[in-house]
Amino acid sequence: MPIEPNSRPTESACSAISFEAPGRVNLIGEHTDYTGGLVLPMAIPFTTVAQISGAAEGYHFSSATFAKTRTMSVSDRSPKSGNWSDYPVGVLRQLQLLNIEPPPFSLSISGNVPLGAGLSSSASVEVATAMALLHHASASLAPEEIATLCRRAENEYVGSPCGIMDQFVVTAAVAGHALLLNTRDLTYELLPMNSGGLAECKIVVANSGVKHSIAGGDYGLRRRELEAGQSVLVGRFKGLRDLGDATLDQLAACQGDMSPESYRRCRHIISENARVREARTAMLDGDPRRLGEVMTAAHASERDDFECSVEEIDFLVDTAVSLAGCYGARLTGGGFGGCTVNLVQASHVDEFSTALRSAYRERFGINAETYTCEAVDGAVARTAQGSKEMPIC
Ligand code: GLA
Repeated sequence: MPIEPNSRPTESACSAISFEAPGRVNLIGEHTDYTGGLVLPMAIPFTTVAQISGAAEGYHFSSATFAKTRTMSVSDRSPKSGNWSDYPVGVLRQLQLLNIEPPPFSLSISGNVPLGAGLSSSASVEVATAMALLHHASASLAPEEIATLCRRAENEYVGSPCGIMDQFVVTAAVAGHALLLNTRDLTYELLPMNSGGLAECKIVVANSGVKHSIAGGDYGLRRRELEAGQSVLVGRFKGLRDLGDATLDQLAACQGDMSPESYRRCRHIISENARVREARTAMLDGDPRRLGEVMTAAHASERDDFECSVEEIDFLVDTAVSLAGCYGARLTGGGFGGCTVNLVQASHVDEFSTALRSAYRERFGINAETYTCEAVDGAVARTAQGSKEMPIC
């Protein structure tokens, strides 16, 4: 069950003991989420679990995945430490900035969202943490406030210049749907994954095993190149707010005033927003062929214009689209490694996944993992009995 901020908490909600947030895969709309554009992700069945209990004093952070623990006093305002704990501590810091001061606690994080794979392990940790700390502080925030707070934690404390897509979908997703988000005003539309021919399809995620990190320099560099182009356009055309509104004709008129890199980055974004709109129509029409085509076209644009793909990912995409039953494939997430997302006819999923993995192993000597993903709910609280409940109380 998704977060319902306006619902009054039930008694069982207040006995919630663990807070869960999923990972996500983005179907289309890449790098559009920090220039007012459109994204179309869905939550996937990988989970981060945050468990919280009271402590005698201080704040204690531990993880089932990482050996390093972190302990701080309640008045500690030290900067990031450079390890995994920066994500939950960043969330705590943002809550403190809102004057939400949780009593002393021990927070432990566990889960199975693949790390550095472009499936939003960071946002998943942030959102699960936010819910746990809010619960412990007897405070509440609306879902979009949780998402924007978690983004600020990542931007301002961790120092990673991400957009809003991941935190938003991890918080607000609804099972069986992709979430079309307008990142300028955070309005969204839920698009069913099972209209018409899509009912016969599955989403297969293929993990290249090539690690990517948003905090690494490439993401920030692309962002700067893009924003440089955006400011030329906004300066030239009155009333243009950002690239979310811009047209390819407007971009062409400014070509001479920006670097070739900025031009190509902007061309990716403007064409990508158009592709997201087309993907929406294809989803509503239940047309997997059209959706797949637009996904594969998006990959070409990421590869050639945004230049955020790598050889391994291009190989996975090229191989996927040559296999029977695959309607389309593309790099998903921040890029420079990570995963591809594939739209595959359900009856072909097993042979598709086997053939893709074996071609990849033969070419790169790497065992790629593939995950067949349903669209699941966003963040939830779980009671001692294991039932899903409202997380905020
Ligand atoms: C990462 C960021 C998102 C978004 C994507 C690219 O996942 O966290 O905000 O920018 O890259 O679309």
